[in-house]
Amino acid sequence: MCGIVGVLGHHEVAPILVEALKRLEYRGYDSAGIATVEDGRLDRRRAVGKLVNLSDLLVHDPLAGKSGIGHTRWATHGAPTEANAHPHRAGRVAVVHNGIIENFRELRADLSGRPFESETDTETIAQLCERHMEAGMSPREAAVATLGALEGAFALAFLFEGENDLIVAARKGSPLAIGHGDGEMYVGSDAIALGPLTDRITYLEEGDYAFVTRDGAEIHDARGRLANREMRTIAPQAAQVDKAGHRHFMAKEIFEQPVVLSTALAAYSSAGQVTLPEGDLDFSNTDRVTMVACGTASYACAIAKYWFEQLAGLPCDVDIASEYRYREPPVSPASTALFVSQSGETADTLAALRYARGKAGRILSIVNVPESSIARESDLALPILAGVEVGVASTKAFMNQLAVLAHLAILAGRQKGHIDPTREAELLADLARLPALLNQALALDPKIAKRTGKLAEARSVLFLGRGPMYPMALEGALKLKEISYIHAEGYASGELKHGPIALVDKTVPVVVLAPRDALFDKTVSNMQEVLAREGRVWLITDATGAQEAGDGVWQTLVMPEINPIFAPMLYAVPAQLIAYHTALHKGTDVDQPRNLAKSVTVE
Ligand code: G6P
Repeated sequence: MCGIVGVLGHHEVAPILVEALKRLEYRGYDSAGIATVEDGRLDRRRAVGKLVNLSDLLVHDPLAGKSGIGHTRWATHGAPTEANAHPHRAGRVAVVHNGIIENFRELRADLSGRPFESETDTETIAQLCERHMEAGMSPREAAVATLGALEGAFALAFLFEGENDLIVAARKGSPLAIGHGDGEMYVGSDAIALGPLTDRITYLEEGDYAFVTRDGAEIHDARGRLANREMRTIAPQAAQVDKAGHRHFMAKEIFEQPVVLSTALAAYSSAGQVTLPEGDLDFSNTDRVTMVACGTASYACAIAKYWFEQLAGLPCDVDIASEYRYREPPVSPASTALFVSQSGETADTLAALRYARGKAGRILSIVNVPESSIARESDLALPILAGVEVGVASTKAFMNQLAVLAHLAILAGRQKGHIDPTREAELLADLARLPALLNQALALDPKIAKRTGKLAEARSVLFLGRGPMYPMALEGALKLKEISYIHAEGYASGELKHGPIALVDKTVPVVVLAPRDALFDKTVSNMQEVLAREGRVWLITDATGAQEAGDGVWQTLVMPEINPIFAPMLYAVPAQLIAYHTALHKGTDVDQPRNLAKSVTVE
C-alpha cells in the first residue's frame, strides 16, 4: 500500500514529485523514490525511510528531467530496503505500484533467468514489460500486454527510456486520478496529491488504463475500447497544514476537537432538529443498520451501535471490513449499509461497500475526504468536517465520526417514532454542551502528562469499559499500542473475570473508563476484582463516580458530568492524551509510528 505520482511537465520534475509525495506520505513512509526521463535517459533515486531521506539524497545526487514518476511505500512484499523501494526498473521500464500482485510468484517463475534485484511483487511488472519490449513491442503495447497478465489490485504508472512524453497509467482495485494542467499532465493516487498542481481531475474507473502525454490522456476501458471519462473540477485542496505551535500533529488534532466538533454539530442540527448538510435520509423503512469500517472508525461504529439500538430501536450490526467482505453475509434490501472511513480510501472498507452495493437498500458513507473513492461510490456521502488529519493515530476524525453517527441515530429515532421531537431536542442540547466539556477535559492535559510516566514503564495495559464505554476502551487500547508500542487490550468490564483477569498483577495498569451511569456499581465491583489481585487501577470518572468508587484505586481522573450515552465522546480525550503522553515518555515517533500508515489501501 503506497502512494504514487507522475508528472509530464515543463519544469524539472524532481521537486514537484517530492512535494506531491509529501502529500501521499499518509499512505506509507517505509521508503520513497522517483524516476525521471532526461533526454530520453531513464534514471532513478531511492531512499529507505521517510521522504526527507530521499530529499537529502536528491540534494547530493540530483535527478534532472521534465517527466517522472514517484512513490512512497508501505512495505508489503519485502523488507523496507533500498532494493525493494520503488520505482522498480528492468531495462527500459520503470514502474511505481500501489496494491498487491497476487500471481507474482507464477509470473516470477515464468521470468526465471532474468536479473531480479528485489523481493517485491512489483518488479515482476517491470521485468514482464521489458520482456515484451525485447520481443519487439512498443512501450504502449508492452504495458497493455503486461496489464493483461496481472491479477490482484493495483494502481500503476510506467515510465520508459526514450519516451520523454509518455506515462502509462492503470487502475484495477486501487484508485488513480489523472490531473489536467496547462500543457502538463499528472497522475496521482488521489486528488490530494495533485491538489496544488491542478483542480481538474479525471478518475480512472475499474480496469481502465491510460496513455498520458502532455497533450492529454487517452483512456481505455478494461476491454481496450476508448473510454470517455468525466473530467471534474474539484474543490481546492486544503493547503499543507502546520502544527500550530504544537510539538506534534497529533497533539494539535487532539486540541482542535472542540472546534471541529462544533463545526459538525452546526452542520448536522438546527433549531433542535437533526438536519443534513446535503441529501435526504429516510430511515422509516429501514429495519437494520449495518456499519462497516476498519481501525478507529470501526470503534466509532461499535459505539454508534448502542445509539442506533437505544435511540432508534434499530437492530444494528458492526463489522470489520476485512471480515465482512469475505463472509458473504446476507444483506436485506430493507437495510441501510453505512461505511465509515476517515480517508475514504481504505481498501477493505471500499471492497465491503462494493459487496453491499445492489444488495442493501441504501449505501451511506461517513468520510473526511469528500473526493475519496468511498464517497464517490456511495448513494450519499456525509462529511465529518474534521479538516485534514495528519497524525496517523486518528483523533479528531474519530470525534467527528461519532458526532455524525450520533445525529444519524437521533434522526433514525425520530423517523421511526422511537423518540419524540422533545427528546430529539434534549439529545441535541446534550451534544451541544460537548465542545465546552471537551475543553474542560483538555485542561486535564498537564495532570495526565505527569501521571503517564508510570504507564510508560508498563509492558502491558488493560482498558475496561461498559456499555458504549466498552468500544471506547477498545479505542483507548488501540491508541496506546499504535503510538507507544505498549501492549494494550480493551475489554468489557464484565468480561474481565472470564479470562483477562489472569493477566492482572501489580505490573499491569488497568485504565477504567467509567462515568457514573446506571451500571457504575457493577463496574466498581469489577474494579474491586482487579484491586484484590494487586492490579493498579487508573479510574477515569466524574465527581460522583470518584466519590462512590471507594478506596484502593491507584489514581483517579475526575471528568465533567455528561449524559452517559454520549460519554465516549468526552472520554476519548483522556484516552488520547494518555496515549500521547505515554508515547512522549517513550520517545516514539508520535505522528508516524513504526509499521503503520494513515490510510491502508491494500487488503
Ligand atoms: C489505518 C489507520 C487508522 C485508521 C484505519 C482506518 O489503520 O492507521 O488510524 O483508523 O486505517 O482508516 P480510515 O481512513 O478508513 O478511517
